[in-house]
Amino acid sequence: MSNLDKNPVQSPAAAVTHPLVKGTVEPGCAKVDPIVIADHVTRQFGGLKAVDVDHLEIPRGQITALIGPNGAGKTTMFNLLTGFDKPNTGTWEFDGKSLAGVPAFKVARSGMVRTFQLTKSLGRLSVLQNMLLGATGQRGEGLFSSLVKPLWRRQEEENTVRADELLARFKLDAKREDYAASLSGGQRKLLEMARALMSKPELIMLDEPMAGVNPALTQSLLGHIKNLKADGTSVLFVEHDMHMVMHISDWVIVMAEGRVVAEGPPETVMKDPAVIDAYLGAHHDTDLGDLMDDGPNPVEVALEAERKAHDAHSEEK
Ligand SMILES: Nc1ncnc2c1ncn2[C@@H]1O[C@H](COP(=O)(O)OP(=O)(O)O)[C@@H](O)[C@H]1O
Ligand SMILES: [Mg+2]
Repeated sequence: MSNLDKNPVQSPAAAVTHPLVKGTVEPGCAKVDPIVIADHVTRQFGGLKAVDVDHLEIPRGQITALIGPNGAGKTTMFNLLTGFDKPNTGTWEFDGKSLAGVPAFKVARSGMVRTFQLTKSLGRLSVLQNMLLGATGQRGEGLFSSLVKPLWRRQEEENTVRADELLARFKLDAKREDYAASLSGGQRKLLEMARALMSKPELIMLDEPMAGVNPALTQSLLGHIKNLKADGTSVLFVEHDMHMVMHISDWVIVMAEGRVVAEGPPETVMKDPAVIDAYLGAHHDTDLGDLMDDGPNPVEVALEAERKAHDAHSEEK
C-alpha cells in the first residue's frame, strides 16, 4: 500500500477538475484557453485595498460572472483591466498582449470593451450619434484617417450601417433619432451594450447589465448576452441576480474584500463555504438557498415566457 492510499488528503481523486481549467479548480486557477490573465493587481484607496488579486484568468469564448457583495472590488477591477483606473501594482494581458498602463481608448481598440454600472450614454446626443461614438474604438481606425475627409466619410457610412444593424437587433431602431435622454433606464442599458458592440470586441465586460432594467426587458437582455457568446464573443459580467448568474454563466468568479475567494461552475460555486461566508458575513445562520428562493425570479419567468413563445410559434406552423 502506498503512502498516497493511506492519506486521503493527498489523494489526487479529491482534486476537482473542469474542462475549462488547467489543473485543479481553485481561486485563481489557470484556464485551458484564457483571454485575460492578471497578476498581482492591487488598488489602494487611502487605507483600503479595494483590489488585491493575486492571479486571475478569464476563459475565452465563455460567459463568466463576477459576483460578490457590494464593495468587493468588482467595478474597480473592471476599471483597472480596461484602463479607466491605474493600479498600485500588477500586470495583465489580454489575448496575449500586455495591457498594463494602456489607456482606455487603446484598450477598447485592442478588442476589450466595457459598459458601466451607471450608464454613460450622452443624453443630448441622438441614439444614432451615441452609437457612432462607440465606433471610435474600431481597430485599424487611426486619428489621421479620421482627418482625411473621403476616408472619414466612407468609414462613417460603414459605421452607420453597422449602427443601424445593431439598433435593429436591440429593437432601438425606432428611437434612432431620439435623444438618448428620452430612453427608459432599460433602453439605455441596451444602447450601452449595442454601442460597446460597434467596435466588434473580442471580450465585452458588462457591469450590472440587469440593474434598473424592468422585467419586460430582462428577457431580451438575457437573449442578447447568450447571442454574444454564440457569435464567439467572450463575456464577463458583474451581476447581483443569482438566478441570472445560475442560468447564463459558464463560469463564476467570486470576489470579497478585493480578493478572488472562490471560482467554479455556477452549480457548485454557490455551495462553496467561502461564497456563503462572503455573502452572509455575520448572518451565518441563513441558508444561501433561502436567499436564492427569495421572491419571484425574473429570469425564470423570462425563460419560461421565451420557451412558451417558442412553443406557441412552433405550433402555429
Ligand atoms: N474612487 C474611489 N475612491 C475611494 N474609494 C473607492 C473608490 N472607488 C471604489 N472605492 C471603494 O473601493 C471598494 C470597492 O468598490 P467597488 O469596486 O465599487 O466594489 P463593487 O463594484 O464590488 O461593489 C469599496 O469599499 C469602495 O467604497
Ligand atoms: Mg460595482
